[in-house]
This record gives sequence, structure tokens and C-alpha cells, in this order.
Amino acid sequence: MTAPLLQAQDLARHYAVGRGWLRTRATVRALDGVSFALPRARTLAVVGESGCGKSTLARQLVMVERPTRGTLAIDSVDISHADAATRAAIRPRVQMVFQNPLASLNPRWTVRATLAEPLQLSEPALDAARREERIAAMAVRVGLKPEHLARYPHMFSGGQRQRIAIARAMMTSPRVVVADEPTSALDVSIQAQILNLFMDLQDELGTAFVFISHNLSVVEHVAHEVLVMYFGRVVESGPKARLFARPLHPYTQALMSATPALRADDRRVRIPIAGEPPSPLDPPSGCAFRPRCPRAVARCADAVPALRAVDGLQVACHLA
Ligand SMILES: Nc1ncnc2c1ncn2[C@@H]1O[C@H](COP(=O)(O)OP(=O)(O)O)[C@@H](O)[C@H]1O
Ligand code: SF4
Ligand SMILES: [Mg+2]
Repeated sequence: MTAPLLQAQDLARHYAVGRGWLRTRATVRALDGVSFALPRARTLAVVGESGCGKSTLARQLVMVERPTRGTLAIDSVDISHADAATRAAIRPRVQMVFQNPLASLNPRWTVRATLAEPLQLSEPALDAARREERIAAMAVRVGLKPEHLARYPHMFSGGQRQRIAIARAMMTSPRVVVADEPTSALDVSIQAQILNLFMDLQDELGTAFVFISHNLSVVEHVAHEVLVMYFGRVVESGPKARLFARPLHPYTQALMSATPALRADDRRVRIPIAGEPPSPLDPPSGCAFRPRCPRAVARCADAVPALRAVDGLQVACHLA
């Protein structure tokens, strides 16, 4: 078997935060021991409610931060402990697409300039004619028209802007694209088109995706593997079909019944998850999901459940 494109081992990122005047500083364990392996041309979806650590994971993957603990390897090179020059050389191989394309695109740049910049940085020797060819080809590939290249971001709809952001991310032929809620700000009718664009690009180019979403119906559409996060940790993971058919963790089960569907004809009964995630400054003992868990028993307060293999999934629950 070939080595995975992206491999995270016990990845953690903690932040020191002030708690106000005359009080000691505290540690927020935003990401606390996440492991996964992602091969080429596959999509790993990361799901969980707001605050569970999804964006913190994304920042480690695209190398804007260094993890507090653990290792992250891209093409078998451990970048978590690598020097600045090695990290800089690998950085173009991992690109990011954000939720809000208007905020991530420069309003003063035409689409052409937006797509040219990453190429100028990663392939400075490329001549102008060749660069224009690459820009025009990518624009067509993401569904833009040649005349769009001279326009500015504000002249487009939300869905078209996200196409521009995706084109920009793909310009350097990255090995991995991390997409953080890339369709959450779009109309439902446009969401499926953008998700299909991601999947078509993956088929053509073999790119691996880490697809972050709080929306399980989006995940069901795009993922091969799923990682369910709660309070900085993985509570359940495994192949999409297996996980959607019979989730084992009470949190995944609750998420599934709370998720609105992409399809308008979906008749599932939706029960919102009761309560709020715990405060990172005051974590509960034992299982972090315990205060909200309908199945919690006494021993759930004693120890943090470890991830273990059950029925083709990895699950962190004492009762699974
Ligand atoms: N730079 C930071 N300093 C302190 N706390 C942070 C920082 N970034 C994120 N956090 C905290 O870490 C947790 C996870 O945040 P985040 O990764 O943004 O979650 P998500 O993307 O899943 O909503 C939250 O409790 C958040 O407040
Ligand atoms: S370990 Fe206990 S509290 Fe945590 S999810 Fe399982 S049953 Fe619920
Ligand atoms: Mg986030």
C-alpha cells in the first residue's frame, strides 16, 4: 500500500487564554489528539457543532499554525517539526477554500489577477502566455466564462464567487484542499452545484479534500470517510456508508436526527440536540458529551472514553 497523502497522528492545538483581571491564565484545548490518514482522490469530511475544533484543525493542516502536540505528515514529510524553509516549500501543496468567498477574495483584483497570483508565487519562471493559458483553462474548468476574467468579485453571485475561490485554490495543482464550510453561506439550490464541482475536480485531478461542515447532508453528498468531532476530539469515524447506516455514538445519532436535508422531500423527524457544548474553560469530568447524553451512566463521569474499533467504525463511548 502506498503511504497516505496526509497523515495526522495525535494532533493537538492548545491556546493560553486570559480569564480577566487578577485571574490565572487557562488553557483551551481547541484540538486534543486527532488522528486520521487521507489518500489521494478521497474526501474526509469533518463534522461537529460550532466550537468543536474544526477550524483549528484546518489551520494546522494548511500550516498557518504549528500543532502543540502530535505529528502531521504531507507526502510522508513530517511538517509539524520541520524547519521554516521545508514548511514554506510544502505550503503550496495544501490550499484552503473558506466559507465566505467575498471575504477571502481581494475586491480590487480582477478574476484574472486573482488566479494569476498563486501561479506567480509558485511558478515564477512561467511566461505570460503560458500563465494566461493556465488561467483560462482553470476558469472554464470551474464553470466560468472567458469574459469573467476581466471582472471583479462584487460583480458575481455567491455561487460564482465560490467558483472563483475554488479556481484560485486549484491553480497550483495542490495535493490537498481544505474546505471550511464552503457551501454554508450559499442558497440550498446552489450548494449542490458547488459540491458537484468539488467532486468533478477530484475525479479529474486526484486532489484529496478535507471537507469541514456542520451539515451532515452536505457530508453525505461528498465524503468517503467521516470524522465526527466533539470538544476537540474525535468521537466517531469511519467510512461514510457505514457511519450513516448505523452510527454508534450518541452524539452522531443526535446530529443525524437534527440535520436538515439538502433534498426538499426529506421527511425525517428532526430533534434538536438538547443543551450546549461545555465551556472549554470548565470541561466536565470523563466523557465531554455526558451533560447532554441521553444514555450517560455513572462510569461516564470517571474516564474519557478512548476511540476503539466497533463494527467497522472507530467510536469513543463507554457503552458502544
Ligand atoms: N486563537 C484562539 N485562542 C483561544 N481560543 C481559541 C482560538 N481559536 C479557537 N479557540 C477556541 O477553540 C475552540 C474551537 O474553535 P474552532 O476551531 O474555531 O471551532 P469550529 O471551527 O468547530 O467552530 C473554541 O472553543 C474556540 O473558542
Ligand atoms: S461515554 Fe457515556 S456519556 Fe459519553 S457518549 Fe457514551 S454513554 Fe454518553
Ligand atoms: Mg469554524
